[in-house]
Amino acid sequence: MAKRIELKKLNIHYGDFLAVKDVDMMIEPRSVTAFIGPSGCGKSTVLRSLNRMLEVTPGARVDGEVLLDNVNLYDKAVDPVRVRRQVGMVFQQPNPFPTMSIRENVLAGIQLNNKRMAHSEKEEVLERSLRSANLWNEVKDRLDRPGSSLSGGQQQRLCIARATAVQPEVLLMDEPCSALDPISTLAIEDLIQELKEDYTVVIVTHNMQQAARVSEKTGFFTINGTGMPGHLVEFDNTETIFSNPKEKQTEDYITGRFG
Ligand SMILES: Nc1ncnc2c1ncn2[C@@H]1O[C@H](COP(=O)(O)OP(=O)(O)OP(=O)(O)O)[C@@H](O)[C@H]1O
Ligand SMILES: [Mg+2]
Repeated sequence: MAKRIELKKLNIHYGDFLAVKDVDMMIEPRSVTAFIGPSGCGKSTVLRSLNRMLEVTPGARVDGEVLLDNVNLYDKAVDPVRVRRQVGMVFQQPNPFPTMSIRENVLAGIQLNNKRMAHSEKEEVLERSLRSANLWNEVKDRLDRPGSSLSGGQQQRLCIARATAVQPEVLLMDEPCSALDPISTLAIEDLIQELKEDYTVVIVTHNMQQAARVSEKTGFFTINGTGMPGHLVEFDNTETIFSNPKEKQTEDYITGRFG
């Protein structure tokens, strides 16, 4: 299932503004890759380019290639809806569909993609997805209650269950813990460790301890000034980035000497 992602000469514009310049990167399957860097350096922009979510922003344009196991996602023949099924996404604010029950939330993607699935099969997907999100035991007796009746940490795990129900190959997470308390954060971090057995995981985080705890590879992005494009300064094993970075800009950032 899990796929390799290769970024080649990625340049991303919002209208005339070049937001991200010349990113090259290889993201390995069955691993966790963290994106770190100061606000506005383009982490979310790059992340959203990995499943063509960026296109829903008017004026946003991606040049270069995003290869998912050697298939360019931006190839004319590639269907963006299919891409978003292969590459799932979890956002900063848990966003369960408010009018849907817990069950309906998990199965929302399945309903769209595979309407004829038998009831028993749907129940299997429901249980498997909630178990893999470490949420099953907490919700199994109230699956028909609204998703919005859960706590924030539970809602985020519900969103992860919803993202994995369609069995994507890649899971993108944009600051998935920043709205959560430390206990829920640790629960999500444990979950990320389990998810990488099956998926390629890319996570944006402002929490450097979190990047160090959960990821194998880290990309440090920065901007050299207002109006300048964000760029990738250094991409390496997480341990190297945090203990022995090659670039001074990386060292300044991880030691808190930035800005
Ligand atoms: N929809 C948009 N339209 C125009 N410009 C945008 C849009 N989204 C982001 N930008 C600009 O692109 C640049 C990169 O933004 P992005 O959100 O990717 O940064 P980030 O690294 O995720 O920051 P943060 O850590 O604050 O989330 C910024 O200058 C931002 O203002
Ligand atoms: Mg962001």
